[in-house]
Amino acid sequence: RRVLILAGGMSYEHEVSLKSGRRAAAALARRGIECEIRDPDSELLPALQEFPPDVVLPLVHGAPGEDGSLRGLLELTDIPFVGTGAVGARRAWNKSTAKDLLRTAGIPTPDWVTMPRQAFSDFGAHKLLDRISTRMGLPLVVKPNSGGSGLGVHAVRKEDDFPSAMMGCFSYSDEALIESFVDGRDIAVGVIDLGDGPVALPPVEIAPLQGDYDYAARYNPGATRWTVPAALEAGTAERIAEIAVAVHETLGLRDFSRVDVMVDDAGDIQVLEASVAPGTTETSLLPMAIEAAGLDFGEALATMVRLALA
Ligand code: DAL
Repeated sequence: RRVLILAGGMSYEHEVSLKSGRRAAAALARRGIECEIRDPDSELLPALQEFPPDVVLPLVHGAPGEDGSLRGLLELTDIPFVGTGAVGARRAWNKSTAKDLLRTAGIPTPDWVTMPRQAFSDFGAHKLLDRISTRMGLPLVVKPNSGGSGLGVHAVRKEDDFPSAMMGCFSYSDEALIESFVDGRDIAVGVIDLGDGPVALPPVEIAPLQGDYDYAARYNPGATRWTVPAALEAGTAERIAEIAVAVHETLGLRDFSRVDVMVDDAGDIQVLEASVAPGTTETSLLPMAIEAAGLDFGEALATMVRLALA
């Protein structure tokens, strides 16, 4: 059987994706499944047509791996692949679209507005912040409406933080998502489906040793303390698990995803976003959560590969 892992891609998360791909390939190899890794480029389609693999595992972060385009191409070729399809990926990739769907489904998510780069230039930072903070107050979080790995994410605690937060965000995306800040614990929940429907994995609590959970805190070993399973009251942990599965289903995700939530002191849960290509690097949360559930990461991937082939 030929298993092709797609990793790399053209986004700022290129290197992270290569690390994700290599770890997944090594984990699958330990389970007797040898994979090729390929960086998707303009030659991908002819290569897939000429020498189709039996199954593809797309682990490209950012665009085009998570925005639906790469998965749409795979759907056109009819080659089975592990993970969410094009439509689900597109929904999750656009954070505002995802939040809209979650809110409609009654899943709590912090209040937000989106702001295209052009509107920011036309209106000016101060006028915009006035309007936004009248509705949502401070602090706020500014993040690229599409993007990952914490790139371009900035907290706005006081008015003066706003212009640079927006400019930082626009270096990664043409659209900013401006969200109410939730003061609470940062929890990530993996969701996997090994053939019996999606189930939530043990929640991971994220605590960077200093500052925010930014790119450096994510990928430098030792920069963040992770606690899995997070120490949560049983009722809160149960609700988080239910919400994570509800997010996975509401957005139409498949096989595996990671849902990021905040939990405040009162135990209230707010969903920030879901990822269809969560990192699987040495410091990533999904493999950690799979192992914490008593499963082997390679075996879980191998099961998904077998299910995609069935
Ligand atoms: N975007 C990174 C890879 C993540 O969500 O883990």
